[in-house]
Amino acid sequence: MQDHRVLSGMRPTGRLHLGHYHGVLKNWAELQNEYDSYFFVADWHAFTTHYSDNIDLDNNVMEMVVDWLASGINPNTSTIFVQSKVPEHAELHLLLSMTTPVSWLERVPSYKDQQDKLKSKDLSTYGFLGYPLLQSADILIYKAGLVPVGEDQVAHVELTREVARRFNYVHGREVDFEKKAQDAISKMGKKAAKLYNKLRKDYQERGNEDALVKSRALLLEQQNITMSDSERLAGYIEGMGKIILPEPEALLTKASKMPGLDGQKMSKSYNNTISLRDTPNKVEKKIKRMPTDPARIKLTDPGDPKKCPVWQLHQVYSDKSTMDWVSDGCVKAKMGCIDCKQPVIDAINNELAPMQERIAKYQSDPDLIRQIIFDGSERARNVARETMSEVREAMGISY
Ligand code: TRP
Ligand code: SF4
Repeated sequence: MQDHRVLSGMRPTGRLHLGHYHGVLKNWAELQNEYDSYFFVADWHAFTTHYSDNIDLDNNVMEMVVDWLASGINPNTSTIFVQSKVPEHAELHLLLSMTTPVSWLERVPSYKDQQDKLKSKDLSTYGFLGYPLLQSADILIYKAGLVPVGEDQVAHVELTREVARRFNYVHGREVDFEKKAQDAISKMGKKAAKLYNKLRKDYQERGNEDALVKSRALLLEQQNITMSDSERLAGYIEGMGKIILPEPEALLTKASKMPGLDGQKMSKSYNNTISLRDTPNKVEKKIKRMPTDPARIKLTDPGDPKKCPVWQLHQVYSDKSTMDWVSDGCVKAKMGCIDCKQPVIDAINNELAPMQERIAKYQSDPDLIRQIIFDGSERARNVARETMSEVREAMGISY
């Protein structure tokens, strides 16, 4: 398993806003320094809910990649790609669908939730039901160990684990598995073989999880055995067949603290966002229009910051002295809400200014963006191709 590999995706269904930046992109930008990171635009996924809307995918995909780059996702450290440019995802999705019970998909919470929420759309499609399985294919095709996602996506990673387990169970049982595993052990060399056998015993007889972790590290170090043998031995220690598709883990992203203009979580569906591309003027207008504590009608009416969405933005953007100034001025009715909002306006515009400069630079060079997408997709495709040849071999269709 690629414990050191991270993969995540985003659907290109609209403009990115500060919620994406604070909730997702900053996190990705940190992860890329630690892990072999794959970030992709999930364009096929957009069709699962927006199949009949005219969303301008061409433009949305380009803009999304530009906004990622401007937010610090580095194309030299991360593999940035577009799902439809790696058609192997579709092949794996199809093959996984053969072993995935329909009931597993019907049980995914987002299936019923979204159908209820998006009543205006007919989501009784095959594609929408299968959407979490396509997501499983996205993850498994890179053998990603970690999937950074929000709370709403954890169930999809859980499903992915079940799908992988079942696939391995069905297709990892070669007729002569035991013999092949033993042969692979002897190929590792005496010392490593002895250690492997000891770890296997520790795990199988005592359920020692630590032995399992150590065995993975040991297998990663082996130079003398093939990838296929390494997968056999990873499964052999767990008392299963060959592990072709390793189970990923969700890396839960802390709920974004970014409040929207109305105090709810910032989200396109609440219409309370500040886009990464909003001009300083627009930001100012949006903040000035924000509701405040309804008790403050006149300047002389004292307020309570806890009842005010502007206060939540101060908590993201202001230092202690500004916050003290706000509390004091609000509770004692020493200042008006317009004054109170100014530091927030300035802070957001200061945050956006360098980002928008980078956006403008990238936006003026569409060829560069295309090249970045092309290179990333090729890199991703090489990994995907490798996994698919193992999958085909396991399924007996590598003729
Ligand atoms: N379903 C995710 C979302 O709506 C996007 C996504 C697609 C994804 N494939 C993925 C996320 C694979 C993580 C891993 O946000
Ligand atoms: Fe909100 Fe500030 Fe007005 Fe108080 S003074 S109600 S915190 S905007």
